[in-house]
Amino acid sequence: MTTDMRHADFDIMPDADSVARKMAGIFVGTVDAHPDRPVRIALSGGSTPKRLFEILASADMKDRVDWSRVELFYGDERHLPAGHKDRNHTMAEAVLLSKLPVAADQVHAVPASGTVMEDARAYEQVLQKAYGSTRLEKDRPLFDLVMLGMGGDGHTASLFPGQPVLEETQKWVSVAQPRTAPYERITLTYPAIASSALVVFLITGESKTEMLGRLRAGDKTIPAGRITSEGKILVLADQAAAGS
Ligand code: 6PG
Repeated sequence: MTTDMRHADFDIMPDADSVARKMAGIFVGTVDAHPDRPVRIALSGGSTPKRLFEILASADMKDRVDWSRVELFYGDERHLPAGHKDRNHTMAEAVLLSKLPVAADQVHAVPASGTVMEDARAYEQVLQKAYGSTRLEKDRPLFDLVMLGMGGDGHTASLFPGQPVLEETQKWVSVAQPRTAPYERITLTYPAIASSALVVFLITGESKTEMLGRLRAGDKTIPAGRITSEGKILVLADQAAAGS
């Protein structure tokens, strides 16, 4: 059963901190739900996840997760040299990953040593190796959980308005040259994100009000509005973004 945004659940919460805390609980629950196997989670980028990462790294939350079974990926990445301050992995490493009992091979940063296309292909191969196949199977999701943000132009991951990647139906990873944000990007495609048991959007702040309204209306003219999942979609937003 494919879920689209018209059938997504929306949970409007008092503030950004409560959004992050709710997401942390979902993260823990996702890992707990599969005690017999590794769990694949795609982290979102941008600034919104920082509070979530701080909560997951905190003493009381960190010990609630069996990190030995967690495999972490990224929904997208800025195509910058490893360690660059504006890479999503740089913030995640500083705030969360460096504080966790995870081995290096459990965290899959997007490659950054080649051209943007070379690194996109390399990242797709990382995903296919983790999944164990080059073909996505309907009843076996690539991700147990995909976290997404949304920009003020309605983009999500690095699926930006007007970009050819929006029409990609086969590849799992592709590239974008956004006009409304800096840097070339490497991003999961719609088919890769759809291969998920659960997609959770984290949307906070009044700058997202217009686009959250369009997302809730099922507007498919914005990239975030075209997200689907083989499982469920949940939008966690604060009252500032909801305009309430
Ligand atoms: C990125 C993202 C992007 C982000 C949104 C929201 O690399 O920038 O993955 O999709 O999630 O732009 O960004 P903020 O959380 O900073 O508002």
